[in-house]
This record gives sequence, C-alpha cells and structure tokens, in this order.
Amino acid sequence: MASEPVNVSEFEALAKKALPKMYFDFYAGGAEDEYTLKDNEEAYQRITIRPRVLVDVSRIDTSTSILGYPISSPIMVAPSALHQLANPEGELATARASAASNTIMILSFSSSYNVEEVAASCDAVRFFQLYVYRGRHIAANLVERAERSGYKAIVLTVDCPRLGRREADIRNRMIVPKLKNVEGFVSNDVDAGGGSNLEAYANSTFDPTLSWKDVAWLKSITSLPILLKGILTHEDALKAVEVGAAGVIVSNHGARQLDYSPATITVVEEVVRAVKGKIPVIVDGGVRRGTDVFKALALGAQAVLYDPTQVGRPIIYGLAAKGEQGVKQVIQMLKDEFELTMALAGCTSLKDITRSHVRTDRDRF
Ligand code: FNR
Repeated sequence: MASEPVNVSEFEALAKKALPKMYFDFYAGGAEDEYTLKDNEEAYQRITIRPRVLVDVSRIDTSTSILGYPISSPIMVAPSALHQLANPEGELATARASAASNTIMILSFSSSYNVEEVAASCDAVRFFQLYVYRGRHIAANLVERAERSGYKAIVLTVDCPRLGRREADIRNRMIVPKLKNVEGFVSNDVDAGGGSNLEAYANSTFDPTLSWKDVAWLKSITSLPILLKGILTHEDALKAVEVGAAGVIVSNHGARQLDYSPATITVVEEVVRAVKGKIPVIVDGGVRRGTDVFKALALGAQAVLYDPTQVGRPIIYGLAAKGEQGVKQVIQMLKDEFELTMALAGCTSLKDITRSHVRTDRDRF
C-alpha cells in the first residue's frame, strides 16, 4: 500500500497498524456474529447507480443543511466513544477537523474530553449525544451543561437499553483505561467478571426503563431540539414524529447492538415514507464511499428534505492513523468522492439526486 491512503479502507489498515489490537477491535467490532456489521457495508454494494449523461456538471454544489445549520456536504460526524484511545488529542482533534471541514460533529456522551473542553476547542456548530443512566441526574446535568456551552441539539440514543454483546471485547478482556474525563464513565473499578469492563459498566449504569414517555421528560429539561438515534422501523419513526422529535437517525449503532437488525440503507425508504418530510432523517452505518452517500440520498429523496449521512468508524480510523489531519482527510476524501459521483451521475446539486438514480434488488424497470 502506498504511504498516503487514498480511500477509507486504506485508513482502516493504517489504524489497525497504529493501534493496540484491543483498541482496534473495540472500534472495528460489532455484535455477536457480526452479520449486520458486514451487511451494513454489503447492502450498499448491492445498490447500483443509474447515471444521467450529457448534463453540464462544470459546477457541483454539495452543500446542504440540518436543522437549519449549513454544512458543506451531507457527511456528518457520528457520535463515537473514547477518541483518546485513538489519539491523545481525542475529541478535541475530531472537533477541530469537523469544524475545518464545515460539518457537524455529534459529541458522544462517552467522550474522553468533557462537553466544555470540546466546546472550547473550536468555534463550530455541534450536537450532543445522550445516554440516560439510572437515576437520571447525570443525564440532566450533562444536557444542561451541553446547552450552556452552546451545543445546538440533543441526540438521544434509543437502541442501547443494554450493551450489545461484542465478542471481540469479551475475548480481549477490553479494559477501558482511566482517561481524561468522562462523568463517572470508565471504570477500572467495575468488576469485569473476566470479560469486557465496558459491558459490565454499561449494564450497571444504563437505564433500561427508558421509554417513549421519557422524551417528554427530556423536552421538559431542555429547549434544544431532540433527535432520536437508532430508529429502524416505520412504526418507531411515526412515534418519533408523534412525541415531537426534531429528527431521527436511522442507525443500528454501527452493528454493535442487535445483530441481525437490518442494514440501515435497506430501511431508509421505510422511515422516510413514514415521516413524510415532517422531520429530517439522517442515516448512518457502513458509509465508506462517496457513492454510498449518493445512494443514501437517492433512497431518501422522496421527501422534501435532503438529509445527511454520518460516519462513525472512518473518523476514528482517520484519527488513529494521522490525528486531526487524518480526520480532515477522511471527510475530504468522502466529500470528493461524493462530488465526483454527482458529476458522473449528472447531478449538480442535492435536489437533482432522485430515487430513480439508484437501483435496488427490489426495483423493476
Ligand atoms: C459508536 N456509536 C455510538 N453511538 C452513540 O450513540 N453513542 C456512542 O457513544 C457511540 N460509540 C461508538 C463507538 C464506536 C467505536 C463505534 C464504531 C460506534 C455508533 C455510531 O454513532 C454510529 O451509529 C456508527 O458508528 C455508524 O456506523 P459506521 O459508520 O461506524 O459503520
């Protein structure tokens, strides 16, 4: 491999070299058989693109917005835990790279720098992802601090009443070291029972009673818009609209929770149809190429909104391989690929990307 990576998968290879096996496996792994982990990426590969030719593509505009905030392309930074395991600068580097790329980062609840530190690291729009612990006071405190330090939305992760069974972490006896921050998270003091201390920790702290009525509770403690992350069915998408969510994120948590949940790209249309353009629909899971971003937008294009995708692991691979610069390069690479895809498919702005630009197994022409 050339020393300069030219795509996300080469960044992954560099990250694998750079990281201790235990940490690489923590980032890369999924739940149980990792069926959904593979399918998240393979489902994109089963979709083909139907290009239109003889279109003037001398100017391409990849920009869009989410909740009214402009972003330079429909590629956002998904929340992921513990960036300091990848690089000492951790989320500070990720935040700076996201800001420089004119995109929005969703800071994980389980970040290794706290909300104020990340807010102070650079001036940019960012959202805060929330897990709800038993007792609720930690969640309430963090929501208040996120709002005070300028985060623009709360992303409530709803697919994690308990931690999925990530066998690589159990096998490796994944121990999260003491990092700089994290409100009580982390965890050398949790009895790992010979397995992963992350699992033992999460299962003793996450509140498994969290339910739809708690969205009202969350709304009562913040004036920020609330997005629900981890929606995979039209039934739950409708409920999200009903409880007043400002948006949904179609996600299976990067296949780290329920194995054999569907590849996210296969349920985007179902969710988009259910919400009928009332709220934005973001999708994540398995996006590794600009063509994947294009496919996700095409499948979501029945709605009036042209909603973004977000990437999890590619960001971490960039961070592990080359720090802040690596994150910037990964975002730029995906954006460049997406722009090229638009040009070759005959689309000059996001509104030109339609459902008829892609073909899935289910389509008949
Ligand atoms: C995650 N994800 C995640 N989601 C969340 O809501 N809170 C979190 O703290 C984390 N942490 C986390 C850690 C790691 C290492 C990974 C890989 C993922 C899920 C994440 O937001 C997103 O849904 C997936 O990463 C998207 O899939 P890809 O892009 O990684 O395939």
